[in-house]
Amino acid sequence: MRASVTAHRDFAVSNIDDRLYSAFLEHLGRAIYTGIYEPDHPSADKNGMRGDVAQLVRELRIPYVRYPGGNFVSAYNWEDGVGPREQRPTRLDLAWHTSDSNAVGVHEFYDWCETVGTKPMLAINLGSRGLDEARNFVEYVNGPTGSYWGDLRKQNGRADPFGVKLWCLGNEMDGPWQVGHKTADEYGRLAAETAKTLRAFDKSLELVVCGSSNADMPTYPEWERVVLEHTYESVDHISLHMYFGNRANHTANYLALNEKLDTYIGTVASTIDFVKAKTRSKRQVTISFDEWNVWYHSNAADREVLDGNGGWPHAPRLLEDAYNFEDVLQVACILNTFIRRSDVVRIACIAQLVNVIAPIMAEPGGPAWKQSIYFPYYFASIFGRGTALSLGVTSPGYDADVADNVPYLDISGVHDAQANILTFFAVNRHGSEALELDIDLKGFGDTARVIEHQVMTHPDLKVANTLANQTAVAPSAGRGISADGSRLSGKLAPYSYQVIRVQLG
Ligand code: AHR
Repeated sequence: MRASVTAHRDFAVSNIDDRLYSAFLEHLGRAIYTGIYEPDHPSADKNGMRGDVAQLVRELRIPYVRYPGGNFVSAYNWEDGVGPREQRPTRLDLAWHTSDSNAVGVHEFYDWCETVGTKPMLAINLGSRGLDEARNFVEYVNGPTGSYWGDLRKQNGRADPFGVKLWCLGNEMDGPWQVGHKTADEYGRLAAETAKTLRAFDKSLELVVCGSSNADMPTYPEWERVVLEHTYESVDHISLHMYFGNRANHTANYLALNEKLDTYIGTVASTIDFVKAKTRSKRQVTISFDEWNVWYHSNAADREVLDGNGGWPHAPRLLEDAYNFEDVLQVACILNTFIRRSDVVRIACIAQLVNVIAPIMAEPGGPAWKQSIYFPYYFASIFGRGTALSLGVTSPGYDADVADNVPYLDISGVHDAQANILTFFAVNRHGSEALELDIDLKGFGDTARVIEHQVMTHPDLKVANTLANQTAVAPSAGRGISADGSRLSGKLAPYSYQVIRVQLG
């Protein structure tokens, strides 16, 4: 099987917004409590934050982390999480049928962001609450002292405004499961008025309005049209979410799902253009894909807590998917799609970051380790910054549930102009045949040489990194890819993920 690719410096998609490699942390299960925060843990810092988890997060160089939800945010009172800890109330969390001590709130989260070198993207509750609470929250976080909310923040230990610029206007408001679920018209009006009010406080805020929770929602894509017609002039991004699963245990269909993702992005991009034209706007709204990941392994185990049979536990094990090697290929294909659509997808958040459908796992009182999907996310975040290339790809394909002629080769390419390095992220979706890859690099001159080649492959698609075996799935140095100046060639093993880095000049 052969595939050929042409990469040329004159054919670019876009400069990639670094925020494409952002993440998400929700007050859900053990994401916060015994995830990032565990004061009794041997590695905990003076704020009670786990040092071992922080180190794994830091390595990912994550630009932004979305917080505090998720479904959780739609019944959250941000005021519960500020002020002296001993006075903070324990609340029932209606989204996940648990309870929350509120030991972590916006101050603790912000400090943690600084510790791990990231920035907060905060979500506002537009489910059970509304405009006034949103306004108060933003003033508390960013307002000057000498005003009520700024002074309260100072009294709670932080005189300087936090200066958070990126805000989500609610979460998945199209979903009937959401506390305070609304029609597109109801939500669109509320989001527009909230945006107007927040901008009266600070014009420079970057605002994300809710799009669809997934492409199977009955309201999609009409939801996007209606919500954008209400908000086009006052928001910067529309958010999309999508989760992936292999419930039918059919690998070929599973690995084709990013075709559906690509269509979803394309449809919403067209809807944005439609509304832009209809409203005669000069503004360009883009997509914040602020929840994406594989999520299905833990579904059955979670029923006990979600159905309320366990009462209202604090920080139970929920959504703790153990990711396998097959999921590495899936996550790599998803990230390739975001890179290829980086002209319209400016922000994307892997959901989530620790313990809850996460690349990082942490055992209470025990170790923290990298799940299999940590690696494609890591490589994309570290090497996927620069200009996304519009590659010409010719590859044999196969027919899958979601699309016909899905190419066996899924590939993206990024040019880091500063370092003059090209990086290719490639997946061979064929389960038994190797792919002979040939990349024409003449458009980049004739001095190309391979400087790094990482491979992930495994004879067992279902093998996962677990507490007992934390390194079962890991990348290793690749062999057999070479570049002779203007041409790169080599063989991609069946079911493999490859990162190939080429120095130019
Ligand atoms: O990430 C888990 C949940 O998935 C989030 O709370 C919600 O927004 C989505 O449905």
